[in-house]
This record gives sequence, C-alpha cells and structure tokens, in this order.
Amino acid sequence: MTEMMKTQAGDAGAFRDFDPGRVPSPCFVVDKAAVERNLSILKDVSDRSGARILAALKAFSFFELAPLVRDYLHGTCASGLYEAKLGHSHYGGEVTTFCAGYKDSDMEAILELSDHVIFNSPSQKERFIGQLKAHPRSIHAGLRINPEHSEGEVAKYDPCAPCSRLGFPVSQLTADIMEGLEGLHMHTLCEQEFEPLKRTWDSVKEKLAPYFGQLKWLNFGGGHHITRSDYDREALIAFIRDIREETGLDVYLEPGEAVALDAGILIGEVLDLPRNGMDLAITDISATCHMPDVIEAPYRPQMMQEVEEGHLYRFGGPSCLAGDVIGDYALAEPLRVGDRIVFLDQGHYSMVKTNTFNGVPLPAIALWDSRTDDLKMVREFGYEDFLNRLS
Ligand SMILES: Cc1ncc(COP(=O)(O)O)c(C=O)c1O
Repeated sequence: MTEMMKTQAGDAGAFRDFDPGRVPSPCFVVDKAAVERNLSILKDVSDRSGARILAALKAFSFFELAPLVRDYLHGTCASGLYEAKLGHSHYGGEVTTFCAGYKDSDMEAILELSDHVIFNSPSQKERFIGQLKAHPRSIHAGLRINPEHSEGEVAKYDPCAPCSRLGFPVSQLTADIMEGLEGLHMHTLCEQEFEPLKRTWDSVKEKLAPYFGQLKWLNFGGGHHITRSDYDREALIAFIRDIREETGLDVYLEPGEAVALDAGILIGEVLDLPRNGMDLAITDISATCHMPDVIEAPYRPQMMQEVEEGHLYRFGGPSCLAGDVIGDYALAEPLRVGDRIVFLDQGHYSMVKTNTFNGVPLPAIALWDSRTDDLKMVREFGYEDFLNRLS
C-alpha cells in the first residue's frame, strides 16, 4: 500500500507490444490472455483450497468475457438488482447478492436471480427474510458483519472505520439476530495481502464460533490481491482448508480487482499542449469521466511512456473541472499533438465507472489477445449513449 489508497500494479506486460494506433481514441483495451492468467490462478486457489470463488462484477463487468469467466469461477457476486441480472443472464453459475439497502420493489426479482442474498443489517433481514424463505427455490440468507477490526489505511475504503454503515457490528451479534441465517459475510479489505485477512479472521473467530453449527457458509468478500505476484497464495490455501475443516462450512471469496489486475489499458490522445507555469497536456481522457478513482481514491495511474526524468507534463482531461487532472508525468521525448498515451491497469474500476459529464465521449472497448495478436472492437459509443442517460 502506498500513502494513497489505491495502489497500482502497473505492469505493462504484453501491452508493450500493442500499437495504440490500432484502436480509436479513447479506448479501453483488455488482454484476454492476461484475464485468463488471473482466472487460472484463482481457479488453482479454488481447486486446492476448496473455496468457491465468485467474480465481483462491480470491479469488472466486461461481459464479452463472461464465457471465459464461467470456465474458471463458480459465478458472480452482485451489488444489487442490475448486477444480479447481468450475472445470472451472462455468466451463469451462482449469484450472490449483497446490497447495503434493498428496496421492496427489487426484492422479488433479486430472489429470482440470486442463490445467496446477504443483508447489511438485522432490520433488512427482518423485513425480507419471510419473502426469501417463502420463495419456491432454496435461497440462502446471509448477514454482512462488521468485524470491528480495521486493516485499511484510509477511512473511505475501510468498512470497519468508526460509524461505518457497512456490516452489523460483530460485538452486537445475538442468537436472535442469527435466527434463520445460513451464512455470514465480511468484506473489509482493499488491495490487500494475505496477512490482513488472517488477522481479521483471528479477531472474529471466537465471536462467531457459537453459530458455526447453524451456518452453511462464510464469505470473505473481496479486496484480496490474489493474482499479484507477491501474494502468499499458499498461505491463503492453507488458511481456507483449515477453516473448512474446523468449521465444516463452505468458504466463499469475491475478488474483483484480482480478476482484471494488469489486464487492461486506457489509450488516449494528446489534444493540446498549453503552458502555464509548467507544460500541460490536454487529452481526450478525462480523469473525472473515465478514471474517476484517480480523483476519488485518489491515486496516480501509471503511464506506459513515463520515465524517471525527462520532459515533465501535467496531463488532464477536456472537461471544465479544474481538478480534472490525471497526474504529472516525465517523458523521454517532448509531446506532439496527436500523440497516443497509455495508462496502465485500467481494466478494473474504470470501465465500470465511466460517465458522460460535460458530454465527454465514453471510451470504446476493445478485446485483444496478446497470444495471437487478434483484436476485436467490442463496443463504440456515440452521441446516443450520452442522450439516453438524459431527458
Ligand atoms: C461486498 C464486496 N465484495 C467484493 C468486492 C470486490 O473487491 P475487490 O475488487 O477489491 O476484490 C467489493 C468491493 O468493494 C465488495 O464491496
């Protein structure tokens, strides 16, 4: 973890061989080989530990690759009705839905699509559990607990921060609250190694032990950087095997980032090169529209072309927002208008977060396979996409 919240693995990998001029600008390019590499690591963890692994659609909903994801993982985890629909219709397998607050009007459809429905509070559970139990399909009810054990460094990304609205405080759990539940869920990590998971489990294990007998599963959420080269996967596998053996419960993981880590880039173009106290580069990539986590997290995405020392530019988008700044980057050669630039590790939490503020066009989406060099333009967006979100 850096002092900024979101780290960036930023390994250009095979993208070094991709000519950014092959696609329109701006454009996300996903390398199928890199996604498959991540999926095969996750499947290996699943096979050897017995964990059931679900892809978190909130991080990476590139459904063009849904058939590939289905070959490796057990299903998807959804954040509400729309992702549950996407998971059910395109990915198949199990669908686990967690939402901090369900609406009456969505619940029937959510039950239709989900295998596990996880509640954020006892009051949501009380409101909907009758409907869940009455459903003709067997659907498991779960409760998200707040382990009250912080491993996050930034409150915005720490579901165990004081007064967090995410998860029911584990210290307040009672047999009455647990009535009717088949599973417990906890999601407390963000881009983290194995040790924080182990410490979190150690902090809650004794408090949960009285309920193991009534439960069928434990879900450890996402935030596990399992596919990062320095992640201690052997320790994770041993940990899951031990828990399964000790508790007799199924163990679920819901990685998002780990599915798409280092598997996508965002290509843009330099539009103008003004100067105001320093060299500036206006691009057709907007931080606020295309990589909002750059501002929200915040973090500085790595650029493929950057060098340690060279011509320094401040890159920013075409929008009116003064803070639509991507970051400062040094380049070996001075830029020219029309040059292509490439931001690394943009497969997750960028494509799913784009918007058309200022009428800024959405990036196209392309699928490349670094093994074969095959390139497919999956989707291009236009004025209609902007118009259809407004009225
Ligand atoms: C409940 C839940 N599950 C899974 C995830 C996926 O996390 P990540 O993409 O960090 O692995 C998140 C992310 O916020 C989450 O809130």
